[in-house]
Amino acid sequence: MNTKFDLRAIGNAFAIHGDFSAAVPHGSGHINDTFAATYNQAGRAVRYIHQRVNHNIFKSVPALMENIVRVTEYQREKLIETGEPAASRRALSLVPTRDGKWFHRDADGNFWRTYLFIEGASTHDVIETEGQAEKAAQGFGAFQKLVAALPGERLHETIPDFHNTPARFSQLELAIGKDAAHRVAKAKAEIDFCMECKPWVGRFIELNRRGVLPERVTHNDTKLNNVMLDDKTHEPVCVIDLDTVMPGLALYDFGDMVRTATNSAPEDERDLTKTFVRMNIFRALVRGYLSTARDFLEPAEINQLAFAGQLITFEIGIRFLADYLNGDVYFKVHREGHNLDRCRTQFQLAREMQRRMEEMEDIVRGAISNAETVILTA
Ligand SMILES: Nc1ncnc2c1ncn2[C@@H]1O[C@H](COP(=O)(O)OP(=O)(O)O)[C@@H](O)[C@H]1O
Ligand SMILES: [Mg+2]
Repeated sequence: MNTKFDLRAIGNAFAIHGDFSAAVPHGSGHINDTFAATYNQAGRAVRYIHQRVNHNIFKSVPALMENIVRVTEYQREKLIETGEPAASRRALSLVPTRDGKWFHRDADGNFWRTYLFIEGASTHDVIETEGQAEKAAQGFGAFQKLVAALPGERLHETIPDFHNTPARFSQLELAIGKDAAHRVAKAKAEIDFCMECKPWVGRFIELNRRGVLPERVTHNDTKLNNVMLDDKTHEPVCVIDLDTVMPGLALYDFGDMVRTATNSAPEDERDLTKTFVRMNIFRALVRGYLSTARDFLEPAEINQLAFAGQLITFEIGIRFLADYLNGDVYFKVHREGHNLDRCRTQFQLAREMQRRMEEMEDIVRGAISNAETVILTA
């Protein structure tokens, strides 16, 4: 990670009580530059997170920060209202700059923000156990529930059409039409698969347009490593990485958990016999998510939980395919055909989910009836 930054000077821009001791790169995020900085606060070492926001990916950092301020302040209010004794550990807390702003711009135009460091909790890059999957999903469900009634104006849509599958499909069709990198012939099987899937790509957007699926405050990057789990109890502590918090559909958040957590192999695995859906992990995600989201989700959302994984997995697959056809202009590639390999793993998973949809729906139904039994017998 880049350590060319003067973290002492950056830290000094923020209203931190204490003397800077040291700062080291922290975590394994791929988007922002994150540092853990230690300050001597009148004799006690206290840590903060200084984070440089990636302004190449996020075009409007002030709008993104406005979203984060509104969401985290509301979380804090709600947590305190419900008697949570450790609100500053259960929601991210921004530290303002000395001149009362929520971010600091350095001389090179970088945007910096500072959070309280959440101690005694960790993020995990790869889901290894059903327990982790369940707890992560529980955490994301709790997050959605907490912010569901966020008052005021709609949040900024910091990346327009982020999960608009038909719009992504149109971009793919454009890429096929242009054939900028002369690769269409090499991706014939994948393109044929896309055309087969075309009838269902608009399902969620259409249901939302008809008022069946509500727009909500969503996280939009629901990977396991964006929820901190307590080091001792393994319970979810705090959902982090709120850069993509914006209006969206709860199902895309859940679907992306399914896509990333149930995959048995890396996203760019070339041996597709290794890529399959870990159904035990799916079961754990459903259980965890419904344990916190069950009481605010609409029946129409619950009906589509199983399909959500298939739809978003397909959506990410077409984004990789479109980028491959455009000549690798968006996703970083490390080898020839890297984006096509990524597309293939996503399509492999989407196809398998399609084939096993009944089983996945049974799992959702089973989890609901279990939850109901618990409620009835409580
Ligand atoms: N407030 C915090 N307290 C402790 N660790 C944090 C905090 N915020 C982020 N981290 C750690 O830094 C990593 C990267 O942060 P994140 O906001 O997810 O950036 P990215 O967008 O690059 O993924 C996280 O996975 C987590 O381990
Ligand atoms: Mg992250």
